[in-house]
Amino acid sequence: MFSLIILTMCGIVGYVGTSPALIVLLEGLERLEYRGYDSAGVALIENGRLHVDKKVGKIRELVRSLWGKELKAMTGIGHTRWATHGEVCELNAHPHTSCSGDFALVHNGIVENYRELKQKLESLGIEYKSQTDTEAIVHLIDLNYEGDLLKAVLKTIKSLKGAYAFAVISTREPNRIVAVRYGSPLVVGVGKNENFIASDIPALLPFTREVIPLDDGEVVDLRPDGLFIYDFEGNLLTKEVMHVPWDIISAEKGGFKHFMLKEIFEQPRTLGDTIRGYISRDIILPFSLRDFRRVVVVACGTSYHAGLVGKYWIEKYTRVPVEVAYASEIRYADMPVGENDLVLAISQSGETADTRFSALAMKEKGATLLSIVNVMGSALDRESDHTLYTHAGPEIGVAATKTFTAQMAVLFALSVNQSESAQEKMENLLKVPHLVEEVLSKSEKVKELALKYANSTDFLYLGRFLNYPIALEGALKLKEISYIHAEGYPAGEMKHGPIALIDEKTPTVALAPRDRVYEKMLSNIEEVLARKGKVIGVGFEGDETLRKVCTHTIEIPQVDEDMTPFLTILPLQLFAYYIADYLGLDVDQPRNLAKTVTVE
Ligand code: F6R
Repeated sequence: MFSLIILTMCGIVGYVGTSPALIVLLEGLERLEYRGYDSAGVALIENGRLHVDKKVGKIRELVRSLWGKELKAMTGIGHTRWATHGEVCELNAHPHTSCSGDFALVHNGIVENYRELKQKLESLGIEYKSQTDTEAIVHLIDLNYEGDLLKAVLKTIKSLKGAYAFAVISTREPNRIVAVRYGSPLVVGVGKNENFIASDIPALLPFTREVIPLDDGEVVDLRPDGLFIYDFEGNLLTKEVMHVPWDIISAEKGGFKHFMLKEIFEQPRTLGDTIRGYISRDIILPFSLRDFRRVVVVACGTSYHAGLVGKYWIEKYTRVPVEVAYASEIRYADMPVGENDLVLAISQSGETADTRFSALAMKEKGATLLSIVNVMGSALDRESDHTLYTHAGPEIGVAATKTFTAQMAVLFALSVNQSESAQEKMENLLKVPHLVEEVLSKSEKVKELALKYANSTDFLYLGRFLNYPIALEGALKLKEISYIHAEGYPAGEMKHGPIALIDEKTPTVALAPRDRVYEKMLSNIEEVLARKGKVIGVGFEGDETLRKVCTHTIEIPQVDEDMTPFLTILPLQLFAYYIADYLGLDVDQPRNLAKTVTVE
């Protein structure tokens, strides 16, 4: 028998109220589409019986199969599932139902001991229908049910190991949903005579902006006229309702072909919003970075690249040494950390498992945990001693763009905050949104080059100093949305190996603004050209030398070297976008990727 690993990046939606649940479920699921999925399903309590519909493929397939069925149920749960291993089929799609047929459940995450549970269930004569871990939970709830769904859930979670979020309904108590969070995100939506549950806030926005993000180890009991939140021991908890400041329009494409393109073009505004939050030099934090002997940055992917840029600024302006670590690496590395260390966790979603758990492990050892997050109320936000927000609004495209530049803005403000030159430096930062607009207004030139090179199969991205992380980020963007192999490298390191890759078919994108390493970059570009490589140079306007040396140039306004990463990244985001779009790829939902990675 093959083993099946379910991703936790799936979507959950649930509704209990006085209106038709199906409309809420389908609309909510559509708003979670950006997470990527391979199948979708709903379960409704219709006239005292469970009605379950599941389909492989897009939500429209599910809608088609529901066509003409007059479903008026006012309680229901829905799910989008995305498996990496194991079969994608209707049987494995959620919701899953129990042995009696009275319970239906949707689940994100992994029940690590499901094989053991399955064996136990089978020894009790229960027929296991799917290859999922999820099915074990719903059977157990059914077995544990003694007239109260909440009690059955509380009893069941005692036997589960792993990280998960789930929501369950039962025909025995038709106006009730019980949902649990333990390691995978879950948010309650608060309505009038109706309540909601979802794995992500955008699913709730058409219906309510009053939300309660659940913490790990919490269970919610939802009914049309009220909701109660408990810990795993069944103790009632008091939680605050948060108002979501985004409006629904910011979660729509706004006339752009893809969310990613919209988000790239939003950067003048999102940077402006973020920077405005940090213009007063005293408001950032109750402590100075200089109070610590070291800053340890933990992050993944694009957020890690922002951390690498931040390292240069923090060390320059505070003289405090910074280590930047991949969260997944440092988590098991036994790094000596203690009270004198500041852990700086960077995460758009605030839910990335590796980032959260590596940061929490260091916090436990006495370090202070400061986070930079985009999603207010996310797990990391709530777990940190202090949070600095990027005010970039919801990012729907799987490839991070506007949140990357917003993270850099917060990192810069944090670095210069208590330095002598804070005011002057922040004035430089305040000019960035306008300069970003200027660079984006010349997107046609980038598009032309993108189309010219769209059929290349390998790219090299080179940069040095502040633009080395930008080379990494540019290569990551290209890889993830266009599936073209791209390598980001520190330009000076190239001669120690990767230079062997260069030939006339491998274009190089070289970041060469006039900064302290400009001359060195020019030499590195010459090294590429000498081996017949084509070079797209990104540098300052009017740089005749760069124009003469490179095969093509993309120009950005002249700025102080500190500000260059905000501008050099823009053509690279656009370049990746235009190539992926030209190749006809699913830009917003690239294969194999999920927006929020809640598994290790
Ligand atoms: C790349 C991308 C990912 C994320 C990474 C961390 O475009 O989006 O590499 O940056 O998964 O996610 P967060 O920032 O949510 O912790």
